Amino acid sequence: MTLDAVRDTDRSFLFVLGSSRADGNSEILARAAAEHLPSDIPQRWVDLNQLSLPDFQDGRHEDAGRQPDEVEELLRRATVDATDVVIVSPLYWYSLSAQTKRYLDYWSGWLNVPGSDFKERMAGGTLWGVTALAHEEHEVADGLVTSLNHSAAYLGMHFGGVLTGTGSRPGRVRADEQAMTRAKTFFQNETPLARFPYEDEAETAVA
Ligand SMILES: Cc1cc2nc3c(=O)[nH]c(=O)nc-3n(C[C@H](O)[C@H](O)[C@H](O)COP(=O)(O)O)c2cc1C
Repeated sequence: MTLDAVRDTDRSFLFVLGSSRADGNSEILARAAAEHLPSDIPQRWVDLNQLSLPDFQDGRHEDAGRQPDEVEELLRRATVDATDVVIVSPLYWYSLSAQTKRYLDYWSGWLNVPGSDFKERMAGGTLWGVTALAHEEHEVADGLVTSLNHSAAYLGMHFGGVLTGTGSRPGRVRADEQAMTRAKTFFQNETPLARFPYEDEAETAVA
């Protein structure tokens, strides 16, 4: 998608911060990318570390009448109101942070609320990722990338990819010049409909 295409449509971005420290490298990198979004596209930033969100309880097959509490409802609304959701998570043990993972676990609950239109509201939207990691070799973040791609595929969303940058101490990611350069155009990336690998393989077999 080009920047013009981003501008043309009625987009709004939700940035979900999932580090366990404030002003970390993932957030710095995400803000560097967000600076280059057109100014008329609304941005909302939510810091999961500032919200008291308990561990997700899987009541999908029990609590038909369960009502979400205030924090959960704020997050659910912010999620469905955005056309673009940006998961901003440090790389923790080659995957998403617990805060971010917990937030995504809630998506399962929201999918299963009776009468929920969560899947319909999310379908057609776009999922993005931003991650900072200590490693110089960013392919070690492939697990996180796969997790986000497959989550987008499950929900019929587009996937814009994951912006990666190296940093350990807060602020160190600014010295990753390649990452800071990529940040400038990250939101101009192509955003294909996310697919599971077996879907591509099945198509190749038929062709
Ligand atoms: C619990 C924990 C797990 C981590 N796991 C990894 C890892 O698997 N690979 C890696 O390269 N860096 C790892 N790191 C380093 C962080 O990814 C790095 O410090 C990053 O800059 C943190 O992002 P933040 O500043 O946005 O919090 C880990 C750090 C912590 C605290």
